[in-house]
Amino acid sequence: MTGTNLRSIKRIGLLTSGGDAPGMNAAIRSVVLAAHHYHIDVIGFYHGYNGLVCQEYIEQAKPLTLLDVNNVIHLGGTLLKSARCQLMLEEKGLQLAANTLDDNNIDALIVIGGDGSFKGLLALQQYWSGQVIGVPGTIDNDVDGTDYTIGFATAVNTGIEAIDKIRDTADAFERIFIVELMGRHSGHITFNVGIACAAEQVLSFENFAGGEQSLQLEQLTSEIIKAKEVRHSSYIIVIAENLWQGGAAELARQLRERSGMECTPCILGHIQRGGSPVAKDRILATKMGVAAVQGHIDGKTNVMVAERDNAMHFITLEEAIKHHKLVSQQLVDAQQNILALTAQRQC
Ligand code: F6P
Repeated sequence: MTGTNLRSIKRIGLLTSGGDAPGMNAAIRSVVLAAHHYHIDVIGFYHGYNGLVCQEYIEQAKPLTLLDVNNVIHLGGTLLKSARCQLMLEEKGLQLAANTLDDNNIDALIVIGGDGSFKGLLALQQYWSGQVIGVPGTIDNDVDGTDYTIGFATAVNTGIEAIDKIRDTADAFERIFIVELMGRHSGHITFNVGIACAAEQVLSFENFAGGEQSLQLEQLTSEIIKAKEVRHSSYIIVIAENLWQGGAAELARQLRERSGMECTPCILGHIQRGGSPVAKDRILATKMGVAAVQGHIDGKTNVMVAERDNAMHFITLEEAIKHHKLVSQQLVDAQQNILALTAQRQC
């Protein structure tokens, strides 16, 4: 993963790809500042990998100055824009991307994104001889090898703030709410938000085995009825997107039908992707941006920057995309234990 012949890095290409995440701007800023310190130019490519393969976006590529990243650390979204790019799954797209990088005299590329973006980066290696480094930026926190991804902490916070508000109205009406959270196919956001909001139920891939939806519905209904008998108050279920066929709205309808109780669905959706990054994401992004530039100077390639136990590491891109990072079993167990306790005592 480290080149044997260190090549001098004069121009770094930079892009953000996939779902935007709060803290991406902080990472862009960090890359530009660190590169500037080492007298390396940074060329920003816009709209994700489309900036390397679509003519109208290729033309937008430009050097990023210190002024460009002034006063952006607190901004959500990404100043480089983002996209998911189907062409990067094809030979034609990969070749086009390689040509664009060569045409712009890029020595090394940094891509801030999630595992899908890293698959593109890995594939690009077969067509382009420059160095590549990934920086994990996704609210889903599902990238293996790093304790946290940029954007996750903010998304969890946004979920918590929203559900705390939902709790107020749910309490007033002693009503059941079903709140759907993002995360694609992993439950990092759902579990963390659920625990932090003292949700009565957390339904996610990690604790809710697939199978007969009708059986699961029956069990859920009887748990809610039991809980409502001992404690008259609000009841909040957080559910991971893509878990229940038809999502939160359909689950609410089915529960209403079965239990006769009022159930209100609420899909938090893209609100979780936006907003000003919390301190943790700004700091993580800053550390990762610097590490990525340093990694390129040290001749590293084909790697992702990762933070483990508060220290920066590099892991291979293959390792990073091999598995989705699982929600820690400790967290799943803690939620199950708390659920069992609250069901017994009236708290
Ligand atoms: O990967 C980030 C994410 O927000 C997921 O949580 C979600 O499933 C997906 O992106 C939504 O993608 P889009 O914005 O393209 O609908």
